[in-house]
Amino acid sequence: MSEKNYFSGDRQMNRSRIPAILALIFATCATSVAWAASPYAFPRVAVPADNPMTPAKIALGKQIYFDPRISLSGTVSCDTCHNVAGNGTDNLPLSFGVFGRVDVPRNTPTVFNAAFNTVQFWDGRAKSLEEQAKGPIQNPVEMGMPNGDAVVERLKQIPGYQKEFAQVFGGKDPITFDNVAAAIATFERTLVTPDSPYDQYMKGDKKALNASARAGMKLARSLGCEACHAGPMFDNPGTAMGTGAYQKFPAQPGYAACAKYVQQYHLTGDDGRFNVTHNPADKQLFKVPTWRNVALTAPYFNYGTVGNLPDAVRIMAACQLSTTLTDKDVNEIVAFLNSLTGKFPKETLPRLPETPNTTLLMGVPDLAQAAQKK
Ligand code: HEC
Ligand code: HEC
Repeated sequence: MSEKNYFSGDRQMNRSRIPAILALIFATCATSVAWAASPYAFPRVAVPADNPMTPAKIALGKQIYFDPRISLSGTVSCDTCHNVAGNGTDNLPLSFGVFGRVDVPRNTPTVFNAAFNTVQFWDGRAKSLEEQAKGPIQNPVEMGMPNGDAVVERLKQIPGYQKEFAQVFGGKDPITFDNVAAAIATFERTLVTPDSPYDQYMKGDKKALNASARAGMKLARSLGCEACHAGPMFDNPGTAMGTGAYQKFPAQPGYAACAKYVQQYHLTGDDGRFNVTHNPADKQLFKVPTWRNVALTAPYFNYGTVGNLPDAVRIMAACQLSTTLTDKDVNEIVAFLNSLTGKFPKETLPRLPETPNTTLLMGVPDLAQAAQKK
């Protein structure tokens, strides 16, 4: 059964169609086994033809990912906000940016399994990991570099990078912003977490999920959560790379319990996808986030205002499905979501190439002072 027929990318699914879709899913896949068939198995990473993965490129991308010198202050690396020794986030409501800025507008998603996102960012404004990687570096709030040239200029002063970029990319001028992004994206494609208890269960180990998690799995399905949290990553019903699946949040603000949550957790103020398309129909549409490792990545939602998973589940039921759950329901769904925590790759810290006898960061205190005066 293909769910693709019922969803079209870049368009919001009409809420009224959810029951019909579920009915169809049940009709076509009478047993949970059929539902659980291969489309839900942990996928392989798709590697773009123009950016093949090689061990040397992965190693270089990892160095840049950990290198704070690609930020204006020289102190913020990708890993500062997306800690890959942990779960790929910093577990803060909102991360601190360059020079300790406190105006990062959205909660930081995990980089683990980002390789499977068909679009990147809460509003889908980047179509690939390569495109995404250039964003935070040049974002004035996050890493603060004025432009890609400034990054290239920094890296070109580091002899070790000159050598490595030449080895990985070749050509006369191997240190380019495009190549920086290509290397980072390549490293990110190694950040995947297969083999969760759920995956083991799906492969036939019936003991991998306890009764509570199994009940939660059924409940998530029967309630309609998986109308939006679909597919192997529970984020997307199968749109092609570069095409996102977006949904309104909160979708049911008129439901009394939802209205209460909206106030309590400040679940308004971000126009989401609208900021990218300026189409009024896209107001408050967000990319449906993955459920993989969601138990580890609190706080929740793009607002980062909900500090625990049970509350996030209650809010979803109320605000997306006009449903109020019992505590038992919530516990079961939370047990199921916990079963989606996968096996994380073991990360060793890379050695970063040095600049013997000098530093690239002499002017940084002045930049910090100038930034404070603004
Ligand atoms: C200051 C904290 C911060 C830093 C530094 C940072 N990010 Fe992020 N990252 C964020 C936030 C916040 C978002 C969500 C922004 C949005 O959706 O508008 C994000 C989104 C992402 C996403 C999209 C994930 C998804 O599920 O949509 C990826 C991938 C990512 N960052 C990778 C990186 C890489 C690679 C670097 C380094 C080049 C980096 N980030 C540096 C905070 C940070
Ligand atoms: C109509 C579509 C839709 C339905 C139905 C839906 N969700 Fe969501 N879900 C979303 C969207 C969109 C977001 C992101 C909202 C945001 O932060 O802006 C989200 C976010 C979440 C998050 C937080 C993820 C994170 O990383 O912050 C959890 C947990 C979650 N949903 C669980 C559920 C559960 C459990 C159900 C069923 C009770 C459910 N969802 C039903 C669309 C939906």
